[in-house]
Amino acid sequence: MPRRKRIAINTGGGDAPGLNAVIRAVVLAADHQGWEVLGIQRGYTGLLDTHETVPLGRDEVRGIVHLGGTILGTSNRGDPFHFPVENTDGSTGFVDRSDEIVENFGRLGLDTLIAVGGDGSMKIAQKLAEKGLPIVGVPKTIDNDLSGTVVTFGFNTAVSVATGAIDRLHSTAEAHERVFTVEVMGRYAGWIALHAGVAGGADAILIPEIPYDIDAVCRKILERQARGRRFSIVVVAEGARPRGGDMVTKHETDPGQEIVLGGIAERVAREIHQTSGKETRSVVLGHLQRGGRPTSYDRLLALRFGAAAVRLIAEGRSNIMVALDPPNVLTVPLEEATRRMKTVPLDSDTVMTAREMGLSLGDETE
Ligand code: F6P
Repeated sequence: MPRRKRIAINTGGGDAPGLNAVIRAVVLAADHQGWEVLGIQRGYTGLLDTHETVPLGRDEVRGIVHLGGTILGTSNRGDPFHFPVENTDGSTGFVDRSDEIVENFGRLGLDTLIAVGGDGSMKIAQKLAEKGLPIVGVPKTIDNDLSGTVVTFGFNTAVSVATGAIDRLHSTAEAHERVFTVEVMGRYAGWIALHAGVAGGADAILIPEIPYDIDAVCRKILERQARGRRFSIVVVAEGARPRGGDMVTKHETDPGQEIVLGGIAERVAREIHQTSGKETRSVVLGHLQRGGRPTSYDRLLALRFGAAAVRLIAEGRSNIMVALDPPNVLTVPLEEATRRMKTVPLDSDTVMTAREMGLSLGDETE
């Protein structure tokens, strides 16, 4: 009798609403094929210690489709090619533990790994694939900055949360005739800021792709004031920066870690106050954009990605990533998915929409 196929799934990097939906779809679709599924806990770290794995069946994925987070846990500190270790002097060093992953993969009798993650996790997946591990990637990130797919799940939920926050800020901004700056996530891409800003009726949107001139933002605010609109909402991507200036980071970055962005909304609020004299307040939405229930759009996309990953394994395919090219789910080579960061194209329809509606993107001339 042929051996039952045994596949594994992990979730790596920052969490994104919809991860549990992918896990559910993978487990149900694999079960339908008569396969076993092993959950790898805490990103790739769970493959360094075979005790950090958990069998996943129908019972384990019951009632999770609407839950944020991930039942497998995640980590953005466990790159097996650059694994942090404490040196004897207390400093942090890095070692390559990728061979242990390959060994444990074989020891666990796995056929394919479904790696769910963003750019960092996909780069690791690509390198493990080069070492001979059959991998199917599933893209996730609220930032929507992965090339190869038009959208990642998590993005729609983050935009919905940010839009809801902008809606709420309108009434208090108007009541007090204030300017609010609202900082949203997105790292080096302005997708969340642009989409939430346009959908939420913001007056100015500052994104990393367009370094801003504070005078252009203030002109917009004062022009509104002259029309009797004494309040304004300015959406600021965490990676936004002034013309000729730098992004704002929160604190010292730990060795080997991504820099942590944060604080630009407060800076923009200060600059607006200094330049226009308007009373300003700043709000940082932070991880609220990542937590909680995925929208139905993200759930469906995540379920489709999960089912597609299993379908591809059934077809004997690997070293590819599932991707959305509306209305279809298709595949791209893993290396294609990580080749470049997908930022907002300046000639995109949404950028044009913002400009044509008279929003400031921080680069208008007088
Ligand atoms: O990549 C997702 C993201 O939420 C970014 O938008 C943000 O810059 C970063 O992760 C925050 O990372 P952490 O959860 O490690 O603070």
